Amino acid sequence: MSLLLQRTEFGNPANVGRIWTKEQCNALLQEWVLNPKLRQHMDQVGHLMEQWAIQKEGANEATASAWYMAGVLHDADWDQWPDQHCKKIIEYLEGQEIDPTVIRAIASHGPRHFGVMPQSRMDQMLYALDELSGLIHAYSLLRPQGYTGMEVSGVKKRLKEKTFAANVSREEIDEACSIANLTKEELIEFIVQELTSMNQ
Ligand SMILES: [Fe+2]
Repeated sequence: MSLLLQRTEFGNPANVGRIWTKEQCNALLQEWVLNPKLRQHMDQVGHLMEQWAIQKEGANEATASAWYMAGVLHDADWDQWPDQHCKKIIEYLEGQEIDPTVIRAIASHGPRHFGVMPQSRMDQMLYALDELSGLIHAYSLLRPQGYTGMEVSGVKKRLKEKTFAANVSREEIDEACSIANLTKEELIEFIVQELTSMNQ
């Protein structure tokens, strides 16, 4: 279920800098996302986006908050409105006069589904961290020790097993890494480290 957004402009440039606090993001998720597994995925992607911005891009607090917001809200409409996925959250955030860079990142998190190519670094990293973290989380559920002691080589083996987390598209992972100009190893290492510390 996906629909092309058929748009190229998102949000209003006058709203640059209008970013929600974590509490405001949470308030929307409480209302919109009832499925705890989806909620966990969104919390993980929010954390990964925030930490990538700080650790790898040298982002300041405001920029890190924008990255967090894009990550934590990217699937906000999937639980209750799958047939309007991506469109509904984007239009809602536009109505809330949110920073257009956050809205554009959400709009481009599935270029093959929504027809919007990632452009900014925030766009690129949301696409890359979303798909790969889903597969890594599925792997953690399979391991008796969860994230503890997880190794990059184990994740790479699961990636090669097409039947494992078959809903996670390997082609999209490859495409996202190439758009972000990162190796899968670099990304896996970062995600494993961050999700491990998040689960401790
Ligand atoms: Fe997602």
